[in-house]
Amino acid sequence: MSQQYQHDVLVIGSGAAGLTLALTLPQHLRIAVLSKGSLANGSTYWAQGGVAAVLDDSDTVESHVEDTLNAGAGLCREDAVRFTVEHSRDAIQWLIDQGVPFTRDEQSAGEERGFEFHLTREGGHSHRRIIHAADATGAAIFNTLLDQARQRPNIELLEQCVAVDLITERKLELDGQRCLGAYVLNRNSGHVDTFSARFVVLATGGAAKVYLYTSNPDGACGDGIAMAWRAGCRVGNLEFNQFHPTCLYHPQAKSFLVTEALRGEGALLKLPDGQRFMQRFDQRGELAPRDIVARAIDHEMKRLGADCVYLDISHKPADFIKSHFPTVYERCLGFGIDITREPIPVVPAAHYTCGGVVVDRNGQTDVPGLYAIGETSFTGLHGANRMASNSLLECFVYARAATSHITQALDQVPMPADLPCWDASQVTDSDEDVIIAHNWDELRRFMWDYVGIVRTNKRLQRAQHRVRLLLDEIDEFYSNYKVSRDLIELRNLAQVAELMIRSAMARKESRGLHYTLDYPEQLPVAEDTILAPPTYAD
Ligand code: FUM
Repeated sequence: MSQQYQHDVLVIGSGAAGLTLALTLPQHLRIAVLSKGSLANGSTYWAQGGVAAVLDDSDTVESHVEDTLNAGAGLCREDAVRFTVEHSRDAIQWLIDQGVPFTRDEQSAGEERGFEFHLTREGGHSHRRIIHAADATGAAIFNTLLDQARQRPNIELLEQCVAVDLITERKLELDGQRCLGAYVLNRNSGHVDTFSARFVVLATGGAAKVYLYTSNPDGACGDGIAMAWRAGCRVGNLEFNQFHPTCLYHPQAKSFLVTEALRGEGALLKLPDGQRFMQRFDQRGELAPRDIVARAIDHEMKRLGADCVYLDISHKPADFIKSHFPTVYERCLGFGIDITREPIPVVPAAHYTCGGVVVDRNGQTDVPGLYAIGETSFTGLHGANRMASNSLLECFVYARAATSHITQALDQVPMPADLPCWDASQVTDSDEDVIIAHNWDELRRFMWDYVGIVRTNKRLQRAQHRVRLLLDEIDEFYSNYKVSRDLIELRNLAQVAELMIRSAMARKESRGLHYTLDYPEQLPVAEDTILAPPTYAD
């Protein structure tokens, strides 16, 4: 039997952004936090590096803003950058207050530096400003926030719940545009339940799973972006897909990330013959922004026909390596690579979706009552290339901003009236799941080959042709068969891929993460790529 639920706030996604929002909302509100699988399955848990923030006395807001604008290749919205950076210290203090066990600085007295925690460096940052918990920052933050959420009787944490689509007044053919809730597949019962809510928040992460090789966990399917698009929201800058330069290259390692903080602490990139190469591409060497480093590696691998390049930190003391990078050390050792003695084989892999659902300063989308926060959203912070560790910061700052906005609007928004149940009367059990598996593989392969680090008009046209065929096939499947997690994710991923390709085709220049051989130059004026769905209401 399908169920009906009512909450004040429905949060779709249980990572850093979703949990922060749930924990900062007033405690008299009934809040549901949905996770597609188990709660820890999102990207937050796997984040190694840390959170960028202005914390040290020698650092300034101006400097963090300037570094972010530089990395963003002229496309960041300066007001969004300033807003985020100005709120960085408060966001970190909130995390410290929640009990996140950030690594302390053992060497210099906290009072001297004005801050007692260790700060590391990453690409594009001109200061040490990344607060971290060794090299497992995401897990430390996630575990702390989850513990806090579990102690709150007003927060329901619901696992195995896959949002299928948003329910809006427009879809129900009512007056108005408001978002009223969501249909959600309960994987335990197999039924699609109806969640109604006064406010709905998308915190579903990015869409890096659209690529064959990615550092992301399996769930990074762009669910929030696709659902928001279908509900009538604009999306922005989806051509900017960040490839992390250094994922472990090993047949058994499923895209294990080797944190950029290694390079921040002196690790060097080398060719198979041991030569360094980054200085030939950028004077900042290994600490150039990610787009430059990933492209340089891609170029050298293609030039030499090499399977990978190498990241070498073995010149540092073994104790230093083991205490700063215990996760990377252990994981590599598990594959027979001792990073205190030998270089790590690495390749670039899809890592972060810089574009997303267009939102304002409060995380509000184009659809009233619907918010998007974290990687799902497009705030203007990242421009054409996200600077390392700005993304977790964005989660906290915008989740807190959305909380304030929702709190102020509470009195004006009643609980929606009863919503219609999901209609499954016209569908049957699928007898051909092979179609889903096949389309998943095909999509991820052509996105990697045609919409990857280096693009051309021809490759993008090929990708567009194929994604349209897939979308038709998926639509037909969706109309005839019962929904499953795989089908819902494939439908979302294909939709987001189509938007990425369309955005990439619209940009007639190379800028930041979008590099095309047909337009290798950067245009004098930087403009966002904003796409509006047919249902978008001005
Ligand atoms: O390299 C890393 O640890 C990743 C950091 C980030 O994506 O911000």
